[in-house]
Formats: sequence, structure tokens, C-alpha cells
Amino acid sequence: MKFIAFNVREDEEKYFAQWVDETGNEVLRLPDMLDMSTVDKTKGFDGVLALQTGVYPDEMFAKFKEYGVKVFSIRNVGVDNINLEAAKKNGIVVTNVPAYSPNAIAEFSVTQLMQLLRNTTIFRNKVAKQDFRWAPYVGKELRSLTVGVVGTGRIGRAAIDIYRGFGAKVIAYDLYPNPELKKLGIYVDSYDELFSNADVITLHMPATPADQHLVNTENLNKMKDGSYIINTARGALIDTKALIEALKSGKLAGAALDTYENESDIFNHDLSNQEIKDATFKELLALDNVLVTPHVAFYTETAVENMVLIALNSAKDVCKDGTASTVVK
Ligand code: COI
Repeated sequence: MKFIAFNVREDEEKYFAQWVDETGNEVLRLPDMLDMSTVDKTKGFDGVLALQTGVYPDEMFAKFKEYGVKVFSIRNVGVDNINLEAAKKNGIVVTNVPAYSPNAIAEFSVTQLMQLLRNTTIFRNKVAKQDFRWAPYVGKELRSLTVGVVGTGRIGRAAIDIYRGFGAKVIAYDLYPNPELKKLGIYVDSYDELFSNADVITLHMPATPADQHLVNTENLNKMKDGSYIINTARGALIDTKALIEALKSGKLAGAALDTYENESDIFNHDLSNQEIKDATFKELLALDNVLVTPHVAFYTETAVENMVLIALNSAKDVCKDGTASTVVK
């Protein structure tokens, strides 16, 4: 079988090479993004692997069909950027990697919140200027806070365990509550209740059309003064302009953003010698109570290995058996 993989990074290479050695299949690895300007490269391949957060145009699936591609395997979990109907219409099976490492993302949520709570960026900057005073940057402890977890799938559940391990009171909201978690009595019945009772909101859900800009002025206004937002999920869940207002007014004490609504031209690109054109993003970067990271919550050795190997095995299974356990329905 012959596969083509887009957006391949150096740190993925050894897992691709290992799989090729073990299975004897062919995988052409390219650093390029997959879009309409590169889709012609997929001609003659059985399957296409990609990993990116931008939208894949519907016409791409028609091209796949024309070029004989059977399967589109994404090396990540989120499929909210894929029009599954367009894929189905063209007979393309889509697979994802539903659980490459929920802990990677959950741990990052806690890592970033802890930094905000203990003002580590502020202290690092002060120490760099030889200002070793403490006040007024007194921190907060997790066990004095209520953490609101939005989305209780695999990642949300890992986050709940870690936050509870630190002694935080956890409340959670999900349209489809998990029966096991229900026994913990942590679910609230509405976003209203979640936003008004949490000191911290951490997002662990896909960005469905219904949840676009879930964190908006209205919901932010329900929050306690001096609360925190952590987003390691999808940028589209937050109305960034509303968030900036809340950070400036003190409604929010801080935010950690590992995703951003217009991130695809920014994150995982070297823009060090360029002016950033996105004025809203520039404004975010200038705020000292915001931690911006370039969609790296997932980025651990465990996760990268699983993303590559599971996506390759899924593509192989679909080509061999017509289906795989990771087919997105
Ligand atoms: C995902 O797995 O959906 C992520 O957000 C990771 C990213 C590299 C696409």
C-alpha cells in the first residue's frame, strides 16, 4: 500500500520510519500543508495522512476520489474542520486518533493555570530586571478554587482527575453527561450555572457550530470578578475580542490560550522576522495576564508516537478491510 503524509515534522519521522520498516508499506512524507495547492500530490496514493487545524475545502474530497485515494487519516482527534458529508459523498473514509494521550492536554491545562495562579511570568520578568520583591503578586492555591470543566470526554475526564488530585472543587458541564462521573455529583445543569460558580473555566470540547464563541461577553459577565479561562481545545470557542475586554477590565484575572480562532497561519510557523498582521492576536500577545502557546498541549512524546502509528494503522486497515476502529462516523 502507498500512503502520503502531509505536515510531517522531524519529531514524527522516527515513528514513520519504524512503521514502514515493520509493515513494508510505502509512506511519502512531506512537510507541506495539505490544501488545494498541494492536493495533486495525492494522485495514485491509497491514503492521505494530515494534521492541521484549518478547514479542508469540500473540493479536496472530490480530488481524492479522482486520484484514487480511499482514506483520509488525520493524525489528531478533532474533526470539526472536516466536512464529513463531503468526504462521504466522494466515498472517502475519514479516520482520526481519538485518544493519543488525553493526559497530555489535561496536564497542560493544569500547567498553564498554575503559572497564572502563581504569577510565574511576572516573577520571571521581575527577576530578569533584578527586582526581587514579592508584593503585590500573592498567589492562589488550587484547593481554594472551583474549576469548571466544559466537556467531559476523555480529555475532560483526565483534567477532572488531575484538578481533583490538587484538591480543587470541580464542577462540570456536558450535553451528554458521563454516567460514571455523575456518581461524583460534579455536573451542573447549565452553562449559566457553570459560568457563575466557577473561578476557572477549562475548555475540553470540540467547536461545534452551536458552541462557537461560547465564551462571549454575556457568559464572561456571569463569571466572578478575577476568574480565569483556560483553552486547550479550539480557538473558535472563544470570542477573542470579548475575552480581551474582560482581561482588561479585571473581570478575568488571566487566561491561558493554547488555541486561537485564526491560528492556522500563525501557530507552528516561524514568524520571527515578520510583522504579525492579525491586530487582535497582537493585542493578546501584549497582555501580561495572558499565556499564549502555539497549540502545543498535545505535544508530548507519547502523543506524537500514538498519533503517527494509530493514523498509519487506521489507513492500512481501511485499505485492507474497508474499515478501522477509528473511522469517524
Ligand atoms: C487535536 O488532536 O485535535 C489537536 O487539537 C491537536 C492538533 C495538533 C491538531
